[in-house]
Amino acid sequence: MKDSFGRDITYLRVSVTERCNLNCVYCGKTDCAKKENELSAGDIYAIASAFTRCGITKLRLTGGEPLVRGDIVEIAGRLHALPLQTLALTTNGVYLKQYAADLRRAGLDSVNISLDSTDGSTYRKLTGADVLHRVLEGVDEAMRVGLSPIKINAVLMRGVNDDGAADLVALAKDRPIDMRFIELMPFSDAGEDASRIVTNDELLQRFPTLKPTGEQDGTARICTAPGFAGRIGFISPVSHRFCGTCSRIRLLSDGKVKPCLGDDTVYDVLPYVHDAHALTERIRQIILKKPAGHRFGETTTAHGLNRTGG
Ligand code: 5AD
Repeated sequence: MKDSFGRDITYLRVSVTERCNLNCVYCGKTDCAKKENELSAGDIYAIASAFTRCGITKLRLTGGEPLVRGDIVEIAGRLHALPLQTLALTTNGVYLKQYAADLRRAGLDSVNISLDSTDGSTYRKLTGADVLHRVLEGVDEAMRVGLSPIKINAVLMRGVNDDGAADLVALAKDRPIDMRFIELMPFSDAGEDASRIVTNDELLQRFPTLKPTGEQDGTARICTAPGFAGRIGFISPVSHRFCGTCSRIRLLSDGKVKPCLGDDTVYDVLPYVHDAHALTERIRQIILKKPAGHRFGETTTAHGLNRTGG
C-alpha cells in the first residue's frame, strides 16, 4: 500500500532480537529490550502475515544479531510460508557457518553480512571480538549453500578502518558478491563524530577503477571494476538522503512498529496480535503515519536515536 506521501511500502525489516554477540563502536544498541520481551516465532509470523496483507513483499530478518536467537531457523521457516518475493537476513556472520545450510533449507533467499575490516586486529577493535576468521568462513558457507545474493556491508570511520577500504573492495574480486559501503550514521558517540564520516563520493575518488553502472539496487548505487566477479555498492544515507523513495517499515523485537529508522516514533501492535483483522487495520494506520524523512543531522534529536531494527 501507499503511505500518505505516495510511497509504496513493500519492505519490512523484522528485528527478532536486540541482543548481539558483538559490540561495534558505531552501533547505538542499548540493552533496553530484554529476552523476555522478545516476540515469539508465532507472534512474528502473525504480524508479518498482517504486513503482507498491507502489501509487504520483501522481508528482512535483522537485530541485534538475529542468529543469537535459538529459534531463528523456525522463524525463517514460518515466514517462508508467507506470500513474499524475498526472505532475507542481515547478520554479523559470526554464527553463519553453523546456520547457513539450515536457513537455506528453511527458505531463506539471501544474506547481508556486516564486515568492516579484513584485518584481524582492526576487526577486534571495532567489534570487541577476535572472530574475523569465523565471519569469513560464514561468507564462504553462505556461497556454498546457495544463498543469493550475498552482500557484505562495511561502515568506514576515518582514522579507524578507512585505510582498509581497498582490502574490502578486493573481497569482490574473486567472489560473486556485492561489497557495499554504508556511510556512518549518528547512532552512537562514535557515530555522532561527523569528522569520522567518509562520504561515498570521497571513497569513489579513491578508487578510479570503479565505474558507476548507473544502476540502483535498493538504496545502493552500483559500480563495477574490470576483472571483478562481484560488484561494489555505495549507500549514502547521510550525503544523499533517499527518504523520497523509501519503501521500508520496521518491526522491533518487542512488537513495536517503527516507520522510520531516523525517527524515534514507535507504535505497539502486540495488543492486536490475536485478531488478524484488527492487526491488519492497525498496521494500515501506522503505515499512513510514516514521516516524510529521517532526522539525522538534527542535533536536537540525534542523541535520541538508537539503532533499533538494523
Ligand atoms: N552507520 C551506518 N551503518 C550502520 N550499521 C549499523 N550501525 C551503523 C551506523 N552507525 C549497519 C551495519 C549493518 C547494517 C544493518 O547497518 O553495518 O550492516
